[in-house]
Amino acid sequence: MKRSTELNLIKRVLSHVAEKSTDMADATSSLPVTRYYDPERFEAEQKLIFGRLPRAIGHISQIPETGDFFTLDAGDAPVLIVRTEGGGVNAFLNVCRHRGARLEWDAGGCGRKRFTCKYHGWVYNPDGALIGIPGSEGFPELNREIHGLTRLPVQIRHGFVWIQPDPKGELDMADYLGDLDAELGGFDLDTHVQFSPRRFSKKINWKLVIDTFLEGYHVRTAHKDTIAPMFFDNIGLTDRFEPHQRIIFPKLTISDLADQPEETWSLRQHANILYVLFPNTMILVQPDHMGVFHGYTDGVDGVVVDACALVPHAPATDKATNYWQKNVDILFNAVDEDFALAESVQAGVKTQANEHLTFGRMEKGLGWFHQSIDQIVDEKGR
Ligand code: FES
Ligand SMILES: [Fe+2]
Repeated sequence: MKRSTELNLIKRVLSHVAEKSTDMADATSSLPVTRYYDPERFEAEQKLIFGRLPRAIGHISQIPETGDFFTLDAGDAPVLIVRTEGGGVNAFLNVCRHRGARLEWDAGGCGRKRFTCKYHGWVYNPDGALIGIPGSEGFPELNREIHGLTRLPVQIRHGFVWIQPDPKGELDMADYLGDLDAELGGFDLDTHVQFSPRRFSKKINWKLVIDTFLEGYHVRTAHKDTIAPMFFDNIGLTDRFEPHQRIIFPKLTISDLADQPEETWSLRQHANILYVLFPNTMILVQPDHMGVFHGYTDGVDGVVVDACALVPHAPATDKATNYWQKNVDILFNAVDEDFALAESVQAGVKTQANEHLTFGRMEKGLGWFHQSIDQIVDEKGR
């Protein structure tokens, strides 16, 4: 983050603190409840958003050595990611080119030199080339050159592995992240390592994973027994980098900065900085580490969440491990509170209690997020 941006954000927060105000939209907005459970709408989002837009699916620290791999299939295309010699990555559809069985069944592994289909035993190397066919006399005309694994465009940027889910699509993450690209570059995400990864399923539409994080209005009540005492009630900044957003949740300690020289000001020491990278990744920057969440669709009313912390170095002592674990537990306890409420929303929208949900002016991030989705579904879907 540029120093001028950091100072500017701190000044905006201090001004809100002095005025007891927060960033507000011009007006309230509303959203039809069907957005969370209508199967046609879900199909359109699945095709136009999850089928076409770049997204992060993991961190490079998961696969540090050549041949390390992981697989992912949560509602959309099954993917196989392999670390290559020279430090790059390959991304493939995890589908055998013979008769289409799932190729790799393990969630991850190390130093793999070949991937063998368990149906009829076709063998592929980490570059996706078809290198073995049992009973090859049965396929005299088969051109192996064009029966390698199907590649997906893939890029490592800011330490994350990003894929373009459309094999024929383009991937340019600097372009896709826009102004946030340079800003994210300042956090050394590429040298951080994953800590305490966890995967969990929730009975919610994928959008509720994001909705949950887009406002601080709920913190005082929903997190009253956990994190609320650290934060200002309903004071925050919400900025749009269409289709992404940056949200600042200031902590009470930020008030102290008003009496200190600007040269000493640090935003992340006194606020959580949330990057919402459309459509389904969130990076929560905390004073000395990050929390990361990716939500994957699992039907219209289900989601699989991959969550982890990113820490500057792999902990080398029990003391360091305990320190990070304590931090991670605080975050995940709060997130458990969020997702329990989100599941109640998913149940609630299917009742006839509401035709629309209402987003208050201070919930402007929700208005923007759903606007971004509408723009894609309504405009590109025609
Ligand atoms: S489907 Fe993979 S070898 Fe037949
Ligand atoms: Fe929350």
